[in-house]
Amino acid sequence: MTEPAAGSRLLDALRRRRVDCTPVWFMRQAGRALPGYRRIRERYRLLDICADADLTTQVTLEPVHALGVDGAILFADITTPLIAVGLEIDIVEGVGPVVERPIRTSEDIARIRALDPQADMPAQLQAIGMLRSELSGSGVALIGFAGAPFTVASYLIEGRATRDFLNTKRLMHEAPEVWHQLLDRLTGLLENYLKAQVAAGVQVVQLFDSWAGALAPRDYRRFALPYSRRLLTSPALDDTPTIHFSTGTAGFLELIREAGGTAVSVDWRISLDSAWARVGQDVALQGNLDPLVLLAPFPTVRSEAMAILDAARGRPGHIFNLGHGVHPATPVETLRQLVDAVHERPLPVAA
Ligand code: CP3
Repeated sequence: MTEPAAGSRLLDALRRRRVDCTPVWFMRQAGRALPGYRRIRERYRLLDICADADLTTQVTLEPVHALGVDGAILFADITTPLIAVGLEIDIVEGVGPVVERPIRTSEDIARIRALDPQADMPAQLQAIGMLRSELSGSGVALIGFAGAPFTVASYLIEGRATRDFLNTKRLMHEAPEVWHQLLDRLTGLLENYLKAQVAAGVQVVQLFDSWAGALAPRDYRRFALPYSRRLLTSPALDDTPTIHFSTGTAGFLELIREAGGTAVSVDWRISLDSAWARVGQDVALQGNLDPLVLLAPFPTVRSEAMAILDAARGRPGHIFNLGHGVHPATPVETLRQLVDAVHERPLPVAA
């Protein structure tokens, strides 16, 4: 049985309503695992795609058409709003964002000007409008996103991805007033960014705190939580449902929950069952297949996915996803078959 075209399984699951089957989408679904995306990347840089409404729309829609997912995540990078305010950031293949002049002092923070989304990122806002009309009646929800203040700050402070977070933790502990000044400035910028995405038409917002797991619980509470909370509870979001994503945070999942989110998104280092026991039944849960399982033969992928659906026990509010982004080596056929397998799995009558 399929739902009426206007309904959205993803939006219903976020509200913990009954659904005809479990909604599914993948972080990094619009990326190098898809042949259409790779072809476009032969001709355009990632930043060129983000600066062009037609290309953004095309890349965002490819996984909807190729895989049959229930959500389309707006194609952009977590550094997009920073690049939009003139910070010099390059996205290097195999590395990720590289910041030319890292931000480590009050003088550096003064270089981060306010974001004016209409003037600074017109292509992205135009793409949101185009995507909503392309998706209208399909039941597929349009997901906007931003990096969480902690993860974004870490990129700016370190200058690139890091293992030890030396500069980030040094700033946090040696100059907490500078830390809070930076986080406050970034939170204002990200709030503006999300407000514009919502006004342009995104139906869900995901906050990516990819690096929160580097923190001690006590440091997360003092140095990161207040800023994520400010975004996730912001009136600027106009009651748009939010998904609060992080990795490596099983040690302080209660704090992730406390920071907010209509749904909490967990990685594979915790079972869905224990995650739900920790965050409480009154919040939706997204996850949590290990993305590298998708490199195995499909029967293995299927049984790992079914184990996750078993752990969800048909509770309202489960959104099937990976614990982190799709690896570029993932076969497209596996992604496609996985979407079907999740959709075809009958839901238990009651949890
Ligand atoms: O999920 C999607 O399909 C939407 C697109 C999306 C991108 N980046 C495009 C992109 C999203 C949601 C992001 C968020 C992002 N960017 C995060 C948070 C999510 C996460 O994965 O933790 C982070 C940490 C970044 C920073 C970043 N940008 C990294 C680590 C990389 C990978 C570098 C590499 O080459 O492996 C990027 C580049 C990037 N952003 C790619 C994509 C599809 C890689 C492919 C390419 O260069 O074309």
